[in-house]
Amino acid sequence: MNETMQTISRRYSCRDYEDRMPPEEVLQAIAQAAVHAPSAMNRQAWRVIVITDRALMEEMEAEGMSCLAAMEDKSAYNRIMDRGGKLFYGAPCMIVVPIDSTQHNYALTDCGILCQTIALAATSLGIANVICGLAGVIFGSSPRAEEFSKRLGFPEGYTFGCSVLLGYAHTTKPPHEPDQGKISFIR
Ligand SMILES: Cc1cc2nc3c(=O)[nH]c(=O)nc-3n(C[C@H](O)[C@H](O)[C@H](O)COP(=O)(O)O)c2cc1C
Repeated sequence: MNETMQTISRRYSCRDYEDRMPPEEVLQAIAQAAVHAPSAMNRQAWRVIVITDRALMEEMEAEGMSCLAAMEDKSAYNRIMDRGGKLFYGAPCMIVVPIDSTQHNYALTDCGILCQTIALAATSLGIANVICGLAGVIFGSSPRAEEFSKRLGFPEGYTFGCSVLLGYAHTTKPPHEPDQGKISFIR
């Protein structure tokens, strides 16, 4: 297996981080990898917002947890509570990806590709990560959604697409067992 194939099979979702910030140059490299991602018609209708402000992340996390707690469907809230009650799992930094979904129907696909590019770049550089869609509540159902969108600098018309938490793993877990049954060849 070459290095790329090894990185793909090594990646896993980390849900327990050390309180240690990755170096600036590593975060820069991950952000650079992100903007290499392909996008439909090369529209790049996304932004890559790297947050290392711990106080802001704590505020966002608290808001996210109270949004999840207020939801009628408690399944997401209970899932996070079962995992220790922290939406960001102690990660010291994150990348938020807002998108302009008015441009074309592929905005969410582009966003997913961008997030996986971030996840693989991070993994290859020894940075644990997890794609965090649930952070969307902070920019969706929250009464402070507009405030947070402004503070993060979402361009006009952009909405939360997805996010990726980054840091050093406090505890690791093995990658999920790939389901070979998902693959078929038509020959
Ligand atoms: C679009 C998307 C959103 C996700 N959102 C969350 C999330 O909010 N919180 C979380 O802990 N994991 C989240 N995950 C991670 C998945 O739960 C994880 O990828 C899956 O369980 C497989 O585990 P693995 O990543 O370790 O292979 C998300 C993954 C994707 C692709």
